[in-house]
Amino acid sequence: MRKIGIMGGTFDPIHNGHLTAAEEVRQRLGLHEVIFVPAGTPPLKDAAKTASARHRRIMCEMATRDNPNFSVSTMEIDREGTSYTIDTIAQFVRDRPDAELFFIVGADAADNFQKWYKFQSILKMCKIVVTTRPGNPLDEGLAAKYGQRIIYVPISDIDISSTQIRDSIARGKFVRYFMPCCVSDYIHSQGLYIGQFEHFKRILQIDLSAERFAHSLSVVDEAEKLGLRHGQGEAALEKLLLAALLHDCAKNFCDERSFAQIKEFCRCEGFALDDFFADAPWLAHSFVGAVRAKAKFGVKDPEVLDAIAGHTFGKPNMTIIDKIIYIADFIEATRAPNDARSHARKLAYEDLDAAMIYILRHTIEKTAARGLPVYKDSELALRNLEENYG
Ligand SMILES: [Fe+2]
Ligand SMILES: [Fe+2]
Repeated sequence: MRKIGIMGGTFDPIHNGHLTAAEEVRQRLGLHEVIFVPAGTPPLKDAAKTASARHRRIMCEMATRDNPNFSVSTMEIDREGTSYTIDTIAQFVRDRPDAELFFIVGADAADNFQKWYKFQSILKMCKIVVTTRPGNPLDEGLAAKYGQRIIYVPISDIDISSTQIRDSIARGKFVRYFMPCCVSDYIHSQGLYIGQFEHFKRILQIDLSAERFAHSLSVVDEAEKLGLRHGQGEAALEKLLLAALLHDCAKNFCDERSFAQIKEFCRCEGFALDDFFADAPWLAHSFVGAVRAKAKFGVKDPEVLDAIAGHTFGKPNMTIIDKIIYIADFIEATRAPNDARSHARKLAYEDLDAAMIYILRHTIEKTAARGLPVYKDSELALRNLEENYG
């Protein structure tokens, strides 16, 4: 009798953990083949957060192509409505009446056995193979309860999950070796799982000059390091990275337009731009940046918008996020090195207020020395910090 493994799952995306588990179970139980069945609309997951069934099916086909014992069935995807395991197994029983069926699941899925629709009927049609995954010890109780119909198979300790892969991609981290290269190439080419940060990065790469884009990424790096150094938690770090990425989003926008055009853009978005910038509109790019981050990128968080608005001149009562963005913009690594920058960098990793005061004084003096007017916010920021800094 032909022994067939059925590997169900969302496969969002499929990765080396799935493939290793399937092959190890196949070898251990002497299965003739393993059929991967990507879910259509999974009943226990939020469909809105998964890649489309088409993408998941293509990734499964790519990942299994070089193993002659693997194949992909689209029966769940092709079926209308919610996918239930019972329907899938019943269809296999009808299609392959001469086969012995083994339905392969991870131990985390086995934890939800009781929620499976018509679980007892499923057990009558096939054996269930539970693979043990890292952090999920064997539940011998289930096997004892359901007898020989549930088989536990320990598999290699590969600590990869689809959730972890999706989160990593959203943060722009490296995931290439978690899955076959063809799958990671496909994810990249289709822009799957990229999340808001990566999405904004792609827009900025087109919107900004190459130099300004590199500067923005370097401010992101610096802001992250400063945030970690000064004890910022996950939520604050997320705000910091977003503000750093978008802080110069209006730089090229302001360079390419007249003051009248920029002022009109701000007016339409409900912001009155100060006429101080009439002779040097590019200097307004921090304020226009906050307006643009809201209008074009849909950023609503006032802490992020304030940090963008304050990154050129500072302002009174700056938050830690405001200070870090202001400082990171001044000290980041792509800027030409000089004494002021290295001193500011040294201060920044010890004391944010000392670094703020130093950079503000330095910038105000330099501006005045050039015979240019100093914007009021810089003076106010400096006075405010000096008053509060013991
Ligand atoms: Fe800037
Ligand atoms: Fe900048």
